[in-house]
Amino acid sequence: MFDLLPKTVEIVEVGPRDGLQNEKTSLSAQDKIDFIDQLSLVGCKRIEAGSFVSPKWVPQMASSDEVFRTIKRVDGIRYSALTPNMKGFDLAMQVGVQEVAIFGAASQSFSQKNINCSIQESLERFAPVVEKAKQHNIPVRGYVSCVLGCPYEGDIKVEDVVTVSTALLDMGCYEISLGDTIGVGTPLKTKALIEACLLVIPSSQLAVHFHDTYGQALANILTAIQLGIRVIDSSVAGLGGCPYAKGASGNVASEDVVYMLHNMGINTGIDLNKLIQVGKSMSHKLNRNNGSKVGVAGS
Ligand code: HMG
Ligand code: MG
Repeated sequence: MFDLLPKTVEIVEVGPRDGLQNEKTSLSAQDKIDFIDQLSLVGCKRIEAGSFVSPKWVPQMASSDEVFRTIKRVDGIRYSALTPNMKGFDLAMQVGVQEVAIFGAASQSFSQKNINCSIQESLERFAPVVEKAKQHNIPVRGYVSCVLGCPYEGDIKVEDVVTVSTALLDMGCYEISLGDTIGVGTPLKTKALIEACLLVIPSSQLAVHFHDTYGQALANILTAIQLGIRVIDSSVAGLGGCPYAKGASGNVASEDVVYMLHNMGINTGIDLNKLIQVGKSMSHKLNRNNGSKVGVAGS
């Protein structure tokens, strides 16, 4: 049953972006910088550090330019940012962002609520971003939201996820992160989705991004790993959610993912004790409960 387990899995720490974008307490730029600098010391090789979106839509991300200008960039760590359009991409380039992400959806209604356009229009907006990124040698990640359910439309067809994912890859994204934005997926649905994606997309180009609203994220991650997925998005202390997906809780907690993987003999390169300390201090700063079970048990 567990014969397909890998030796290593890569964690993409999305706490500073997906985590903080939905927290009630808006952190100062300096607090975000300190947070990212602490994360840079735990051994994580990919950190999503902010987003260049409209401050009217997501005020929590308004200081991403200052954040990118000031964080201590550690060699070997990729610090990325969301850029939904050319304006966002240009702003990101002004502060030396090394990797960007565009974010689409498999649900029309979610696309409209989140980025104010249809799926087709979003692809048209993303195309010049990816073109310009190629000119600057900037890798582009593609997100697809609502892959296992939508807060407005309910069930989402697997074919719709595959269509948007392949469109983003054809455009030039190097990886697709499949987002269970509201955390409604269960292992069998996850299996069906990933198997459908794998018919047309190599596993090396897929990542998974689970929110833990219904406590299913670790089970879904294990399912994904068994199917060959090797890149997992997670957020320290289980911070966050999506402001345009009511009820979505935070991402699966990084500490919980790392604990599960390490205790199954799968390396992440992350120092779990240091990660727990970062999660504890961030929860304290945000005056919220620590969303990581491991963070609480290990404290
Ligand atoms: P719009 O209102 O249609 O944009 O928003 P617009 O082009 O009409 O411009 C309106 C105003 O916004 C103008 O300013 C623009 O300059 C400004 P004004 O003239 O009114 O002063 N503007 C910008 N400002 C800063 N940066 C920009 C930018 N673009 C325009 N990049 C837009 C369209 C996409 C900008 C807006 O809908 C938006 O910012 N949406 C972002 C929503 C968001 O960040 N959601 C959370 C991230 S997605 C997520 O969490 C899911 C994920 O985690 C995966 C998962 O869990 O599924 C990735
Ligand atoms: Mg998310």
